[in-house]
Amino acid sequence: MDKLIVANWKMYLTLRQSVALAKRLTAYSLQLTAVSRQPLAVSIVVCPSFVALEEVAKVVRPVRARGRLRRPTSNGIKLGAQDVWPEARGAFTGEVGLDDLHELGVEYVLVGHSERRQSQGEKDKLVNKKLLAVLKSGMRPILCVGEPWRSKGEKWAKWYVAKQLRVGLKGVLRQDLKRVIIAYEPIWAIGTGRPASPQDASMMHEFIRETLSKLSFRVLYGGSVNGENAAAFLKAPSVDGLLVGGASTRAEEFLKILKSC
Ligand code: PGA
Repeated sequence: MDKLIVANWKMYLTLRQSVALAKRLTAYSLQLTAVSRQPLAVSIVVCPSFVALEEVAKVVRPVRARGRLRRPTSNGIKLGAQDVWPEARGAFTGEVGLDDLHELGVEYVLVGHSERRQSQGEKDKLVNKKLLAVLKSGMRPILCVGEPWRSKGEKWAKWYVAKQLRVGLKGVLRQDLKRVIIAYEPIWAIGTGRPASPQDASMMHEFIRETLSKLSFRVLYGGSVNGENAAAFLKAPSVDGLLVGGASTRAEEFLKILKSC
């Protein structure tokens, strides 16, 4: 299975900066595929802010020619959203719904990112509602789980993550589970420059697989990934890819991560 690298641009970039970065990444992946004459050996998903989604979509998605969809020039980059409201349309002031994302060609949606859990008070139940809605809409949810500092250590981390998985995935049909991607992001590692060790990440990834009956789905690691440590995580057993925040907003750094795949 190809490694999956998800770039979470959070609220770091303006619209113009997002478009410029998307162009840079597209050029890089097109250049790589032209040289090797092979599709990229890595799948890339970029998650811009909602404001930048439409313009970034124009850069990374296939272009429309005379009203018809021209075949994509397979730049290998897919579009993701950082969040969603679990309704298609309606009276939900300030929210962005499933239909909006669909129309823009979004294929992946982050749900339950710890920054939303912390700053917006999102609970597992709402995360579950979002996840089910994303699955039903045909897009793929990336469920973020991970323990806070106070639950650091194998026993408590497993307990904490097991609960997030149990509630977050409630009601998901077995056949739909393979469309779910899990991102293990210990909260204490996010944006701190202090990542988990690749061994600890592997251990938690194995635990997540066991908890979900070893079904086949991807588990990503996230939390202070950068150009220096990406290769070690990607080599670690049971790590199927990365969810990258800060480092994904700096072109050179992110290209370094892609080259580690
Ligand atoms: P970070 O963020 O790479 O900046 O630590 C990861 C994330 O929040 O997804």
